[in-house]
Amino acid sequence: MTSPAIHYLDTQDLGPDTLRRQMHLVRLLKDADRRRTCPELLRDASLGMIFEEASTRTRVSFEVAMTKLGGHALYLKPGEIHLGQKENIADTARVLSRMVDVVEIRALHHETVTSFAKYATVPVINGLTDYNHPTQALCDVFTMGEHKLPEKEFNDLTVVFIGDATNVCTSTALIVTMLGGTFIHARPEAYSIERQWPQVIDEVKQNESLYGGRYLPTIEVDDAVRDADFVYTDLWWWFGQEAEIPDRTAAFMPRYQVTPELLARAPAHVKFMHCLPASRGVEVTDAVMDGPRSIIYDQSENRLHTEKGLLAWYVYPRIERATPAVRAHHEAKVQDYLAEVSTA
Ligand code: CP
Repeated sequence: MTSPAIHYLDTQDLGPDTLRRQMHLVRLLKDADRRRTCPELLRDASLGMIFEEASTRTRVSFEVAMTKLGGHALYLKPGEIHLGQKENIADTARVLSRMVDVVEIRALHHETVTSFAKYATVPVINGLTDYNHPTQALCDVFTMGEHKLPEKEFNDLTVVFIGDATNVCTSTALIVTMLGGTFIHARPEAYSIERQWPQVIDEVKQNESLYGGRYLPTIEVDDAVRDADFVYTDLWWWFGQEAEIPDRTAAFMPRYQVTPELLARAPAHVKFMHCLPASRGVEVTDAVMDGPRSIIYDQSENRLHTEKGLLAWYVYPRIERATPAVRAHHEAKVQDYLAEVSTA
């Protein structure tokens, strides 16, 4: 599902070279942040943020990132704009493209984001859909880069995702295999990527043949973690799946819950990841969330740095700034006009 280059809609949009260059940019911006600074690459630029669902990390990280880069962000929640009610996607995309420099969208259905991008003339960034969470995926591999054993390259890593084939699961499968690593999905058969997102399997196979990654689905969670560098899990149900809670609980609990006992089967250097929000005591215990293997808050913080990197990557090259002389010319004209009307 590769998207036109001005947009970031799908984890698969990035090839490994672009992905590595983006991670390098994120590294520079995070290092700058540690010195309490940020280059104002997007001075005076605007970001429109459309959210069809609640968000803590995606919303805050994009807004703060845009502010730190010298720009401005508008939070556009359902009911506050006409999208999907009085106005269709094409018109909203065309209008926002005349007013802002970039749009981030969290949508219930991936087609909403791809349709919006079709009509937008500014970059569109997917802030999570039912199928994919590419900004989280970039953050996650950047975080793995910070926490992996120094002697290991990405193509030596084994990432074990335990649980449902969520949007984060499919994104992790794609990005890990794109970097040549091994992705193991430990889950009951009914919650496999194959059953829920068969098109992702085609993309993963493509990554296996192009980049040397490996995709290994299994129901055997105890064996799955044996060589894990990272163990990752996500919610067992999302908004709209409340009616399935009894079935999902029966399928996952207790076998697929991430516990200290399960992590004890992994190598001593294993790290635990979760995109958050988490249901503590459901897919993972407090002892793991708050334990020595957990890197969940580093992961959350890195959303901010990766959002800065993504915004700079997609928007900075497109900004055309007036020369100082042109700017001074127009400012002088406005000053003259104001002086004229104030004395009239
Ligand atoms: N991980 C993530 O996307 O978090 P939010 O739902 O809070 O944005």
